[in-house]
Amino acid sequence: MAKRIEDLKLIGNKRLTNDLFIIELSSDEELPELRPGQFAQVKVEGSPETFLRRPISIHDVDLSNNSFKLLIQIAGKGTETLSRLKKGDNLNLIYPLGNTFSLPPVNEKILLIGGGCGVAPLLFLGKHLKSFGCLPDVLLGFRNSERIIEYEEYLKIGEVFLTTEDGSTGEKGYVTSHSVLSSSKYDRIYCCGPDSMMRAVAAYSKKTSTECEVSLENLMACGIGACLCCIVDTVKGNVCTCIDGPVFNITELKW
Ligand SMILES: Cc1cc2nc3c(=O)[nH]c(=O)nc-3n(C[C@H](O)[C@H](O)[C@H](O)COP(=O)(O)OP(=O)(O)OC[C@H]3O[C@@H](n4cnc5c(N)ncnc54)[C@H](O)[C@@H]3O)c2cc1C
Ligand code: FES
Repeated sequence: MAKRIEDLKLIGNKRLTNDLFIIELSSDEELPELRPGQFAQVKVEGSPETFLRRPISIHDVDLSNNSFKLLIQIAGKGTETLSRLKKGDNLNLIYPLGNTFSLPPVNEKILLIGGGCGVAPLLFLGKHLKSFGCLPDVLLGFRNSERIIEYEEYLKIGEVFLTTEDGSTGEKGYVTSHSVLSSSKYDRIYCCGPDSMMRAVAAYSKKTSTECEVSLENLMACGIGACLCCIVDTVKGNVCTCIDGPVFNITELKW
């Protein structure tokens, strides 16, 4: 798939919490085909510390508006700089990068599991699945009720189950302790979130013989397979998360 290096126009920057925000970008040209699971390498201007582009997942796509969104958590200097961008600013991206979530066979029972900012790639995936007639359930985990984001958006995809670590909304605990995992049998799980969460979901999937794909967020520098800093050890040997991933079936990973 052709990749672009392009200055995109910022048409929105919406703060969701003190450290989470969504930017919307539009292109003067027709957008390239974007697929769920893919990411962009975002250029952060203004400091030698942010010389390397930052990888951010495609969160949502609006073809009618020729625009797409990135959901970003402030983690350090780069994402903090991005949070201060204003409508009308330009942002340089290399995109679309990486592989995609697979499309499931029809009639499978699907669950999307996201934790914290890891919910980012699942909205686009959920909408994509829905456009193919698949209505996935969604299980989202957050630290507390104040950290819940994009709930209304996920409700448009299917039934949404929630956990919070302090029990302030939904079931108390982690996503893997939610009762829906024992009351329902899913054919396939798509998951993105903190490494520990994805490993716990992978363990559940193995135990219950459920197909499972996870989206890894390994540290990246180039994003195009040149620097080898995003290597992951798989059953096929070492591969680059940026070009062979970020989406992997858990059977490929040595988890
Ligand atoms: C394929 C992919 C998709 C991603 N999608 C998103 C997304 O949709 N939204 C989002 O907010 N973030 C996403 N990330 C993580 C994001 O790239 C990092 O948080 C960001 O690069 C941090 O840059 P910074 O300059 O703000 O922080 P830095 O100063 O570079 O780092 C601050 C802290 O964040 C940690 N960090 C840096 N990179 C990562 C990483 N890749 N994963 C976990 N921790 C990291 C550092 O170790 C450090 O502790 C994604 C990462 C990958 C690889
Ligand atoms: S980030 Fe450079 S090879 Fe993957």
